[in-house]
Amino acid sequence: MSSAQRAARMSAERMVCELGEIENDFAIAVLEGLSKEKKSLPCRFFYDARGSELFEEITQLPEYYPTRTEAAILADHADEIAESIGDGGVLVEFGSGSSLKTEILLDRVAHHVTYIAIDVSETALAEAKARLGNRYPGLDVRTVVGDFSGYIEIPEDLSTRPMTGFFPGSTIGNLVPRDAKRLLAAFGRVLGRQSELIIGIDLKKDPRDLVNAYNDSAGVTAAFNLNLLTRINRELGGTIDEDGFRHEAIYDPREGRIEMHLVSTKDQTVEVCGRPFHFRSGETIHTENSYKYSLEEFLSLSMAASWKSEDVWTDADRKFSVHRLKWLKGS
Ligand code: TRP
Repeated sequence: MSSAQRAARMSAERMVCELGEIENDFAIAVLEGLSKEKKSLPCRFFYDARGSELFEEITQLPEYYPTRTEAAILADHADEIAESIGDGGVLVEFGSGSSLKTEILLDRVAHHVTYIAIDVSETALAEAKARLGNRYPGLDVRTVVGDFSGYIEIPEDLSTRPMTGFFPGSTIGNLVPRDAKRLLAAFGRVLGRQSELIIGIDLKKDPRDLVNAYNDSAGVTAAFNLNLLTRINRELGGTIDEDGFRHEAIYDPREGRIEMHLVSTKDQTVEVCGRPFHFRSGETIHTENSYKYSLEEFLSLSMAASWKSEDVWTDADRKFSVHRLKWLKGS
């Protein structure tokens, strides 16, 4: 840790008594991220109430092919997936957001499964729970407010039932491969013996299609990225001029990932939690990665995390893939 990072952590820790736990976690992450030589912010903070709303809009954009492509793949194979979830199974969704895609599966299995929705957005969870309650009377829905990469425990009364994890949206691509492997292994440990995982993975393709998906013509993705600055201003007493930054999405073919940045359009100094941060014109805050895999690359990643491939489904254009994996470990 550099001395600037240490100073950031100390000044954030001093705020502990003035901020709630969530804001404090946010404060530490922001102060650390902005103190780095290459400034960055962790992507989980995108999803406040406004961010979750904007993300739903992203999923409807003409350029953003992943959501509708994945939904079509799920619909095409819903019977097979329903069968593998089985009678009395538990469906555990990591980062459930609006739970809209989940309905494709719940339409088949709602009468005999329990659904656990895990998300950082309390408002998104509450809305989803209300909607699902109406659509599937009698469905047992449990919600867990939290970060799916943190510690998650399956409620005691469900722990002996067959578990199926659901992790759509290529969210795993938002982690660097080493962390992706760790997260997959952590899911296996949470879900336990004999469990399965239904996971959506975006595939490598023409970089132009990738860049357009993350830089739409209506500017919704830009608004989503910039909302992070709005959240910093609101929750951490920031003085960031949002017009002083612009959204950028670039594809790095070597890393096989889309990178999202907020680019400072001028030399400027902003304050967060009373601390100054200087930006040169053109300097960026790296806010998100979205890794794209080939089928082979993803299969070797999941294998390395002790998940065995049972089924691989794609659309006709091979834009996106959905995988059914089985946990190989005994516990
Ligand atoms: N998991 C999504 C993806 O990587 C999340 C996402 C879509 C996203 N568009 C975004 C994240 C724009 C940050 C900015 O495709």
